[in-house]
Amino acid sequence: MASKSGKFISFLPGHRDVPVSQKDQSVLDVALRAKVALNHTCGGNGTCGTCRVFVIQGLEKLGPRNEIEAEMAQDRVFQASERLACQMEPVDGLVVFQDIFLRWQRR
Ligand code: FES
Repeated sequence: MASKSGKFISFLPGHRDVPVSQKDQSVLDVALRAKVALNHTCGGNGTCGTCRVFVIQGLEKLGPRNEIEAEMAQDRVFQASERLACQMEPVDGLVVFQDIFLRWQRR
């Protein structure tokens, strides 16, 4: 997964290991810079929920949800591992998974 130097985030499915740039403010920024196909209808404002991912690895490294993400998590009854890529700090070693089919089954 992660390289021996620098910060990397892994995106599933597809197993893309993407280096984190100093300019990246969120996991969504990392994905978009690397052209990882991650939904982001509202452009990263935290209002659409389409960037929701499951954190497969590294959840313990993340800080608590910010106010924007916490509100959506409460409204949509997110599990602890469900996070908004646009609101998540790009922490080294994260493995995230976006499963659009699972979302359709739950709603
Ligand atoms: S891009 Fe809309 S909530 Fe993240």
